[in-house]
Parts: sequence; structure tokens; C-alpha cells
Amino acid sequence: MNKNIWVIANWKANKNIQEALEWLSIVGPEIPKKENLKVVVCPNFICLEQVAKEIKVGNYNLMVGSQDLSSFEIGAYTGEVPAILLSGLVSLSILGHSERRKNFNETDEVVTQKVKQIKETNIMPLVCVQDGETIVPEGCKLVAYEPVWAIGTGIPDTPENANKVAGKIKQSNGNLEVLYGGSVTSENIKSFVKQENISGVLIGGASLDANEFVKIVKECVVETP
Ligand code: PGA
Repeated sequence: MNKNIWVIANWKANKNIQEALEWLSIVGPEIPKKENLKVVVCPNFICLEQVAKEIKVGNYNLMVGSQDLSSFEIGAYTGEVPAILLSGLVSLSILGHSERRKNFNETDEVVTQKVKQIKETNIMPLVCVQDGETIVPEGCKLVAYEPVWAIGTGIPDTPENANKVAGKIKQSNGNLEVLYGGSVTSENIKSFVKQENISGVLIGGASLDANEFVKIVKECVVETP
């Protein structure tokens, strides 16, 4: 069977609801319906519900993810969004992104707590690591290797090295699916997804442009007939 190809759009702190829906109206109808193609859009919290609704109405082959969630359960935690409140709305949550580790002091312990919160739900954790050494919390099946120096710089890692690091990450658990992230575009995506140990990509900047994102997804489909 073909390996899964995950194409995950991380919009970060961008796009209001109107912009999100415009993006969806261009991207949604263009996503091929293939079983091993897992396309996920991760908007900010304010857009989640509308985006999820629009995907359902359009019957698009797209899933919705959050960019984070709380390490706490439901209760008196002002400003937090707990996993249980997101369940049913999102299929996946990006956890431990390097921007959260850097700007919000997120440690491996905090990430592990978040993965624990998710266990009570049907949300799939996508844990971001920066190398082959970072601890992958128990219960996590999807990991993104994202070297910090490659994020938003236009200088991606080489596909060969990304494959090597992905292989190392998989040594701890052969069932892990490992994605690559950092300056992925429609020009270079093919070279990453064709690597043996890489099961897709996490995309920031290039995912914001609807037409570029459609191109990226189509490149993956060409790669895995
Ligand atoms: P980038 O970001 O594609 O803009 O490099 C990737 C990420 O932060 O996940």
C-alpha cells in the first residue's frame, strides 16, 4: 500500500475569517479525493469553526487542525483552549512548534502534558521536533522534523538529510509517520515526499497563498500515483 502523504498548512497568526473562507473556496474544490492523501488546514482559533463548517458543506477532502491546545484540562485557566473543547471540531493539533517553544517557553514537559490531554479525545497530536534527539512523547504517531534555521528562511534542509533525521526519529518507534517542515514550496516538495522516511510536509509561509498551496498538493499527487 502507498504510504500516507500528509500536507499540513500552518497559517500561524494570519488570516481573518473572510480571508480563510476565500482561501478555502479556491483550495477546497481542487483537493483530489485519494485515500492516502491527508490534507489538513490549521487556522487560528477564531477561524476554526467556520472553516470546519465550510469543508463539510463543500464536501472537500480536507481536515481541520489547531495550531496548539492547552496543557490543562477544562476549568479555571483564563485564555486557554482545552483539548476536550476542541474535540469534534479538529482532527489534529500541532504541538511543540518551535515558535511556541521559543516565544512561549514551551518545554518537552509541557508538550508531553498536551499530548496527555489529547489522549482523552480523538484528536491526533502532531509533535514538532528540531532534530533526531528531541523526545517524542508516548502516544504520538505523527512527528514533524523542523530545523529552526529552515523555518521561514527560504533555506530548506536537504531532502537527503531530512530523510536521515526522519529515519533516526523512526528508530524509537517504527510506526511513527515523520513529516518535514521548513521552507517547503511547490518547487521543492517532490524531493521531500519521495524520501523513504518522509510521509509528508508541514508548511507555513507557502500555505497562505491558495494557488501555491493547490500546486503543492498536486505535486504530491503526481509523486504518488
Ligand atoms: P515555513 O514554516 O514553511 O514558513 O518555513 C514551517 C513551519 O513553521 O511549520
